[in-house]
Amino acid sequence: MSANERDYAALGVAARLAEDYRREVAAAPRNPTASYAEILAKFDAPVPADGSDAVAVIEELAKGARDGLRPIVAPRFYGWVNGHSHLAGVAADWLTSAWGQNCAGIPMTPAGAAVEAVAARWLLELLDLPSECSVGLVSGATIANFVGLAAARGELLRRQGWDVEADGLYGAPPLRILIGADAHTTVFSGLRYLGLGAKRAELIATDALGRMLSSDLERALKASSDPAIVIGQSGQINTGVSDPFGEMVPMVRAAGGWLHVDGAFGLWARASAEHRHLTDGIEGCDSWATDGHKWLQTPYDCGFTIVRHEEAHRRAMDIDASYLSKANGTERHPGAYVPELSRRSRGFAAWAMMKRLGRSGIAEMVDRDVLIAGLLASGIAGIAGVVVINKPELNQFVVRFGSDLGGEESDRLTRATIDRIQQDAIAFMGTAMWRGRWVMRVSVCSIATTEDDVRLTIEAVRSAWEAVQAEL
Ligand SMILES: Cc1ncc(COP(=O)(O)O)c(C=O)c1O
Repeated sequence: MSANERDYAALGVAARLAEDYRREVAAAPRNPTASYAEILAKFDAPVPADGSDAVAVIEELAKGARDGLRPIVAPRFYGWVNGHSHLAGVAADWLTSAWGQNCAGIPMTPAGAAVEAVAARWLLELLDLPSECSVGLVSGATIANFVGLAAARGELLRRQGWDVEADGLYGAPPLRILIGADAHTTVFSGLRYLGLGAKRAELIATDALGRMLSSDLERALKASSDPAIVIGQSGQINTGVSDPFGEMVPMVRAAGGWLHVDGAFGLWARASAEHRHLTDGIEGCDSWATDGHKWLQTPYDCGFTIVRHEEAHRRAMDIDASYLSKANGTERHPGAYVPELSRRSRGFAAWAMMKRLGRSGIAEMVDRDVLIAGLLASGIAGIAGVVVINKPELNQFVVRFGSDLGGEESDRLTRATIDRIQQDAIAFMGTAMWRGRWVMRVSVCSIATTEDDVRLTIEAVRSAWEAVQAEL
C-alpha cells in the first residue's frame, strides 16, 4: 500500500510540531515534568492489532513525549557535551529520511555518496588535517574511536606479517595499548569490541587536569619493543584539555607505534585560529575520532573517523559483495570506511551544517563558546564558598560547592546544588566524579548559547547554592 494523503499530511504536521517545539524551548526551556516511568506508562500498550491514521500517530507521539523531553537544544543547557541539533541540519536530515537514502554505496545513492565525499573533504580542511586522510561517517565518536582503533590494530599487526582481518587475533603477535588515565569510557568500549581487552590497556599517568604526561608515555614506550597503539585525547570531558601531541607524535613514530586521538569535541579547536594552538602537533597522528553532533551542531547522529593510512582504514572496514557493485571502483566508496552496510546518508546534514555556518561561522561559534565558558567559570568562582577547579582553556570546567567543609559534606552539597539548579530550570548543569569527588560539570558546546546567558546562568548557580546553604 503506498502513502495515502494522510501519510503525506503527517510530514506537514511533524514540521509544524517541530517548529512549535523549537520556538518554545528557545524562549522558555522547561525541564521534563514527566518521569521515564510516566512516559513509559503512556506508550506501553499492547502491539496494535491494526494500523492507525498517520497524522494521529504523529500527534500522539508528540503529545505523549512532550513532557519527557529534556531541553538539550536550549541556550543554557550545559549538562553534557551536546550540540544544538541546528535547524539547518535538522532540515537536511528530514530530507535524508524522506528521500530514504541508504549510503551503502554509490549505485544506491549517487547523491548521498557524492555529498558525503565533499563533506569529508571539507572536514579535513576545516580541521586542518592532512588531505590524504580517509574519512568515514559514523554514528558518533564511540564508533569513530572503534574504527580508528580497528585500522590501528590491522596495520600494526600487518607490519609484523599478520593479517588480522583474515586470521583474527588467535595466535597473533603481541600488541600493546597505551592510554591516558583520564581517557573517555567509550574508548575502552572500542578496545572491548576489538578483542584488545579494556583491562589489558596500560594506563599512562596524567597531570592534575587529565593531560597525558609525555615523560610517562616515553618510559612506557621504552619498556618494550612490542608495537603500541597509543590513544591520546583532545578535549578531556571534565577539563577540556588536550594531550601534548607535539611531544607525543615523535615518540610514537620513533617507537613504530600508531597514535590515535579521541577528539570528540576538542578537535574542533582547530577550526579556530585563536584556539588551534591547543592541539598543536595533532596533525602528525595516525587516526582521529570526532563528532558532528557536538561542535558542528548536526542533529544526532553524526561522527567522523579520520585515518591517515587509507589502505589500513579500508582493510579494516571495507564490505564487498557482487550485488554491491561499487560504481567504477575509482570513486570514494562510502561503505569502505564504516562498520555498517545500510545507514542513513549522514553526509547531507554534515554538508548542510558546514555550508550553513561556513569556516567563519564555525570558528566564531567555537571562540564564543570558549569565551562563555571562561566568563561562566570566573563568575561562578566569585560566589563565596564555590571552587572552580579548572580555569577552562576550552569549553569544559568543573566546580565544587563548600569544599572547605570536608570531602563528604562537600560531595553532598555539590550534588544538592546541582539538583537545585536543575529544578529551577534556568540552566541545566551536569554531575560527574573528578579525582574521586563529585563535581558540577559545565559544558559549553552550543551555538545557541550567547553572552546574554552568562549573567542568568551565574545567578541561577548563586541562588541554588544560597538555597542549599539556607537548609544547612
Ligand atoms: C571525549 C569523548 N569521547 C567520546 C565520546 C563519545 O561520543 P559519542 O557519544 O558521540 O559516541 C564523548 C561523548 O561525550 C566524548 O566527550
